[in-house]
Amino acid sequence: CGIVAYIGAKEAYPIVVKGLKRLEYRGYDSAGVALFNNGEINLYKKQGKVSNLEEFAEGRDKSGHIGIGHTRWATHGEPNDVNAHPHLSGDGQIALIHNGIIENYESLKTELESRGHVFKSETDTEVLVHLIEEIQKNQSLSLPEAVRVTLTYVVGAYAIVVMDKNNPRQLIAARKSSPLVIGIGKEDDYYLASDATPIVEYTKNVVYMDDEEIAILDLDSGMKLVDIANQEKTPYIQELELHLEELEKGGYEHFMLKEIHEQPRSIQDCFRGRLNAKDGWVQLGGIKDHIEKIGKAKRIIFVACGTSWHAALVGEYLFEDLARIPVEVEYASEFRYRNPIIGEDDIVIAISQSGETADTLAALDIAKKKGATTLGICNVVGSSISRVTDAGSYTHAGPEIGVASTKAFTAQVTVLTLMALSIAKERATMSESQFRTILTELEQIPNKVSKVLEQNDLIEHISDVYQNANNALYLGRGSSFPVALEGALKLKEISYIHAEGYPAAEMKHGPIALIDEEMPVFVIATQGTSYEKVVSNIQEVKARKGKIIAIVTEGDTQVKAMADHVIEIPDTDENLVPLLATIPLQLLSYHVAVMRGCNVDQPRNLAKSVTVE
Ligand code: G6P
Repeated sequence: CGIVAYIGAKEAYPIVVKGLKRLEYRGYDSAGVALFNNGEINLYKKQGKVSNLEEFAEGRDKSGHIGIGHTRWATHGEPNDVNAHPHLSGDGQIALIHNGIIENYESLKTELESRGHVFKSETDTEVLVHLIEEIQKNQSLSLPEAVRVTLTYVVGAYAIVVMDKNNPRQLIAARKSSPLVIGIGKEDDYYLASDATPIVEYTKNVVYMDDEEIAILDLDSGMKLVDIANQEKTPYIQELELHLEELEKGGYEHFMLKEIHEQPRSIQDCFRGRLNAKDGWVQLGGIKDHIEKIGKAKRIIFVACGTSWHAALVGEYLFEDLARIPVEVEYASEFRYRNPIIGEDDIVIAISQSGETADTLAALDIAKKKGATTLGICNVVGSSISRVTDAGSYTHAGPEIGVASTKAFTAQVTVLTLMALSIAKERATMSESQFRTILTELEQIPNKVSKVLEQNDLIEHISDVYQNANNALYLGRGSSFPVALEGALKLKEISYIHAEGYPAAEMKHGPIALIDEEMPVFVIATQGTSYEKVVSNIQEVKARKGKIIAIVTEGDTQVKAMADHVIEIPDTDENLVPLLATIPLQLLSYHVAVMRGCNVDQPRNLAKSVTVE
């Protein structure tokens, strides 16, 4: 879910609604705003996107200098108008927006109901606002105090903003495990949002709230931060490095297409200043103080979800092959409930574009408790994961808005390559010449990605041929296996075609049963160790009349002779193939989704950043 709020001299509604649109990547099941005007709270809520809310609010009173807004990704209760946020207290005095999950909401709800509270929605959030109301009344507390005391009863994750009809010169915000940023405006006004994107066009001065902090934003007395035990804290004001242009489509039809095309630059930005092939060095500043410890680690465990998990699988090949260190790759959601065996000699690396994924954060928490050193590979600067880990490296891909991850994935793989090389150097597991060869090849990758992008027309043509498929299979071996998984995930996510990624040789243990003349099979068949094996797998598909779309190395003839379509990618070191082979698969899913009339940037049921379990 996404949160935006404003308090100050400007009109709140346009700021809040524009901000919600920037946060729609966090969920778009329903949206709502509460605006204070003339002693009343005007509440507008609507199922669906923020644009539905705007239509609904058209012609209604939208004035007011204090407003809170929310775009939802449903957890408790289906996405309808009633379950949309903001929620009001029983007496209608207090309005609240919430991102996260209140885990003990059912017991709190039962208690409140026994004391006469009546709830309109099925949400955990409404329970919270009723509890604030009750505590405020029973204990005659100020709103900030009532919020603080309420939060001591709450188990779970939250970022909340609270507005009180009786005190329209104040907003109260609090966070625990769900992000919240305060923007300090130029006109004694304040902004609040789940990330900095709704804030950047108004101010560059921000405070990233910490867990269990409560902020009181008051137009008379200014900003005050306290912790849950009511100790005052000094806000740490940072300057945003984000630029507004990065949040716009820049002439592309969709964010996803823009982000696919940004990859030559985002990969370059990712390794800029971190390597030099001529002089033969690699350095990731963020982890350099830990590199000795990492080099001595018994084992490295990657935790991640979704596309970031696929990057972790590529990382496994890189770390094992180059740095000769044992690696395990775990779904964060599984790891956290598995009583994992980890100790002080283990390094746990979380990979996350957003740096906010709830399962990944929870996995890190367990790793820390068990004494492991934790590292983060995040794209969003200042995100929760980047702050809770012992050290880490940013991917520097710039804001990724399209829900389906593209440039963040290739940047993650780039950082993983740099990390593997740094560890290899520390452990002396590579010859100097092999080390320099990979560095030289890595420096060439941005140009080679541009060459792949030049094949857009061919890829669009292939997309046209297969746009009506009901199923698709993606095959690869070695580090191209995670590329196959990622290719399948992209197609599923944005075009709703069922697709599976498989290690090419495993196909004969199951998926081969699905192959017929209707089935497109995408195969990564680049030159390298398992080329001949993949050729055999292609023959197995052809023998069953499957359609082969192969990604091959420039100049290939053998696969070309067998495949229905080939997409050539430039030759590179085998370890770097995922950085190139992923690109055509991204473009292909994009074109298929456009041809099928799907909403590319905001696919149904998905959210870019899943901040709930
Ligand atoms: C969601 C997104 C995916 C993303 C995953 C992990 O499912 O839709 O694109 O890969 O979360 O997100 P993270 O921010 O942790 O990389």
